[in-house]
Amino acid sequence: MTRALLEKYNVPGPRYTSYPTVPYWERHPSTEEWIGSLRESLLVSERAAMYIHIPFCESLCTYCGCNNRITRNRSVGMPYVMTLLKEFSLYRDALGLKGKIPLGELHLGGGTPTFLAPEELSILLKGILEHCERVSDHEFSIEVDPRVTSTAHLATLREFGFRRISLGIQDFDPKVQEMVHRIQSVEQVEQVTTTARKLGFDSVNYDLIYGLPFQTVASVEGTIKAISSLRPDRIAFYSYAHVPWIRAGQRRFTELDLPDGEEKRRLYERGRELLEQEGYVEIGMDHFALKTDSLYTSTVTGGLHRNFMGYTSRNVNPILALGVSAIGDAWTAFAQNEKLLETYCERVEKGEIPLSRGHMLDPEDLVLRKHILNLMTRMETSWEDSAMRTPYLESVPARLCELEKDGLLRVSGNHCQVLEAGRPFLRNICMAFDARLDRKAPGTRLFSSTV
Ligand SMILES: C[S@@+](CC[C@H](N)C(=O)[O-])C[C@H]1O[C@@H](n2cnc3c(N)ncnc32)[C@H](O)[C@@H]1O
Ligand code: SF4
Repeated sequence: MTRALLEKYNVPGPRYTSYPTVPYWERHPSTEEWIGSLRESLLVSERAAMYIHIPFCESLCTYCGCNNRITRNRSVGMPYVMTLLKEFSLYRDALGLKGKIPLGELHLGGGTPTFLAPEELSILLKGILEHCERVSDHEFSIEVDPRVTSTAHLATLREFGFRRISLGIQDFDPKVQEMVHRIQSVEQVEQVTTTARKLGFDSVNYDLIYGLPFQTVASVEGTIKAISSLRPDRIAFYSYAHVPWIRAGQRRFTELDLPDGEEKRRLYERGRELLEQEGYVEIGMDHFALKTDSLYTSTVTGGLHRNFMGYTSRNVNPILALGVSAIGDAWTAFAQNEKLLETYCERVEKGEIPLSRGHMLDPEDLVLRKHILNLMTRMETSWEDSAMRTPYLESVPARLCELEKDGLLRVSGNHCQVLEAGRPFLRNICMAFDARLDRKAPGTRLFSSTV
């Protein structure tokens, strides 16, 4: 890839886990509106999803962009579990649910869900699942930090039907690990992976990041070599999102310690090359999967979906979200919980559904959401069908013109196809469909760089 293209397109831009993107939410729903949207979505849903956010971590990884609360005080776990269960009961009451929720997906994310003791996880899951009907091919998944995950954690999760596990790794290079304050060995990863598989987890994901301070092509090569014999089914190879104005931990290193745009791209391209040699296929943006994995199969069948949890093998709706900062999705509306742990807990204790903000999608949002989702999951989109049209699209071909001239995509009639050379610029391509970004350029820096 030429330096010129990188320089041209390496601009701040969203990752499009939603449309509209969070900084552009403006039609905040009242609690009644949010409950109404959820209820409507649940009425027609055969597979709902739940996301539960556990914010606690024992120590801070300085690159981290997640909503976390660093503490070694284990006594915070149980009160938090009780707050989550109370929040769930507030939802059941508000929704007036008569039967059980048909649960297709359950995801525990964080922070570090295995910060909770196995007994605490057990109380949480029991309290949630007694009000849900697990659909036959349900997918329950969890993000774990191998440094704090025991066999007892894994056995408890299996008891409740969890079969997918995602391990945070990032990079094994000692210098990088020291810089990002995350010292973790290959043996720890191997131990959790083999135990999980023995217990019956049949899908293992590893998270890696490229673009971290002091990372080099050699450290990416070393990391991928170290994991290759463990054969995770999926690998998320994330572009490091540098947002030090939001995440104070990222100020522990400077931009001079980070690989620059061209070097960062080299890290990605070398990583991708090695992963492809190992039999992994690139799925959408930043994700790889073995051909035996459902994420790959869903790219073939057209079922691949993307939401706040990343890529998933099918579209499930609604997503009911519990926990501090968690984001729910009823397709026609989004809602996020309070981001400060204390405020979240206080509001739930008072009997309030702890929403802080959200967005009711208007007809244009609903159409553009589908286009951006198509691009992120299928690398193409079409507005031939009248249901896929909205006046803003008339201006899109002109916006795509420069990208087309640069050989990144092809537009023919009302159809846009991303070319292989355009893959690294998928975020830039989606930006052409982002009417809200176009109408109101951010006054302050909101997003990480696209490359
Ligand atoms: C909630 S953590 C995973 C579970 C556990 N807390 C751990 O770190 O092992 C989610 C993942 O987000 C990714 N991540 C966090 N901060 C990031 C950033 N600034 N840029 C890119 N990816 C990031 C990391 O790959 C991390 O594994
Ligand atoms: S990367 Fe994971 S363990 Fe590290 S601070 Fe973020 S959420 Fe916690």
